[in-house]
Amino acid sequence: MGIETSCDETAAAVVSRGEKVLSNVVSSQIATHQPYGGVVPELASREHLRAIVPVVRQALRESGQSYQSVDAIAVTQGPGLAGALLVGISFAKALAYVLQKPLITVNHLEGHIHAVLLEERQKGAFEFEFPALALVVSGGHTHLFLAEEHAKGWRYKNIGRTRDDAAGEAYDKVAKLLGLGYPGGPIIDALAKHGNAKAVKFGPAQIKHNNRGTPKDKQTLHDFSFSGIKTAVLHYVERENMRESVAARQQALSSNPKPAAEDVLPLCDQKALDLVASFQRAVVNDLVAKTLHAADEQNVRTIFVTGGVAANSELRQTFEREAGKAGLAVYFPSRKLSTDNAAMIAAAAYPKFVAGDFADAEFSAEASLALV
Ligand code: KG4
Ligand code: ZN
Repeated sequence: MGIETSCDETAAAVVSRGEKVLSNVVSSQIATHQPYGGVVPELASREHLRAIVPVVRQALRESGQSYQSVDAIAVTQGPGLAGALLVGISFAKALAYVLQKPLITVNHLEGHIHAVLLEERQKGAFEFEFPALALVVSGGHTHLFLAEEHAKGWRYKNIGRTRDDAAGEAYDKVAKLLGLGYPGGPIIDALAKHGNAKAVKFGPAQIKHNNRGTPKDKQTLHDFSFSGIKTAVLHYVERENMRESVAARQQALSSNPKPAAEDVLPLCDQKALDLVASFQRAVVNDLVAKTLHAADEQNVRTIFVTGGVAANSELRQTFEREAGKAGLAVYFPSRKLSTDNAAMIAAAAYPKFVAGDFADAEFSAEASLALV
């Protein structure tokens, strides 16, 4: 059984042998955080406390398993919000203690990588050319890892990361400043199809990282930066006098806790749609270009793209097209397993279960846990 509470989703799942999903329950807190345009940590912890018991019970019920029949309890240790992680960890510890089952800690980013492996194994694909280059791109992370299986489990090497905002964070912030609702990713994804992606030019300086002032040992090979483009969008809104239309949209959506793209589209003029499409094009092109460049440099043939932003339709299409041209194989999880879930945590725990790599009862939440 996997348990995941690192951010704003309370999730539990039962997975057999790291590949067969028996149940996968995700309770989202979107409606709670929507009025704030981002995740509020204190509210997240409170909502996890409310949801954890019913979510775990539902995952067991749907899997046809019982507390006694599961083999081990796996839980996300980090990275994430400390208070949110603690809810899942405390619950998992109590469960493992009472049931006398082994407890396994999983890094959330490792979970995202294993979401890809889990689903490819379901399709019968077991042979990948390793190492794989994994782009983990979500609301909290934009990381590049080399991932490879060794005798005693998986090993990861971080070769790129964002210097400021994560790509999903940029989506959420841009959506907030354009009055489009929360979370921004799925809405911008849908709206971008109605805009001209060439209408607004974002210069390379708005999306390129700048190593100046960073000590050499803190620099990674392939860094990302997404705070500049968010500021560029803000300047564009001011320069083009879009403030009034943004305020009108905010007002119109204020009574809708979870607006769908169909609710937002009629509230957008062409200028807003063009801006959104151009923003998405710039982010997607940057993610794809840097990942392919890293793959080339590291001589990697296999690419995994995972995390909430991997659900983005333009990102998927562009990766497939460009990786195809370069003769590289690119894999994504299904949309359901791209965003946070616990099936990926249970899947990542399976090799540790086989290796007997169990946690002692002393561990705690690690908000900035590194993946190695
Ligand atoms: O992996 P995830 O569920 O949580 C984190 O670990 O952060 O990712 C959530 C992020 C949010 O920023 C959300 O806006 C973004 O993923 N997202 C998307 C899409 N669906 C979710 N971004 C772009 N396009 C999407 N279709
Ligand atoms: Zn995540």
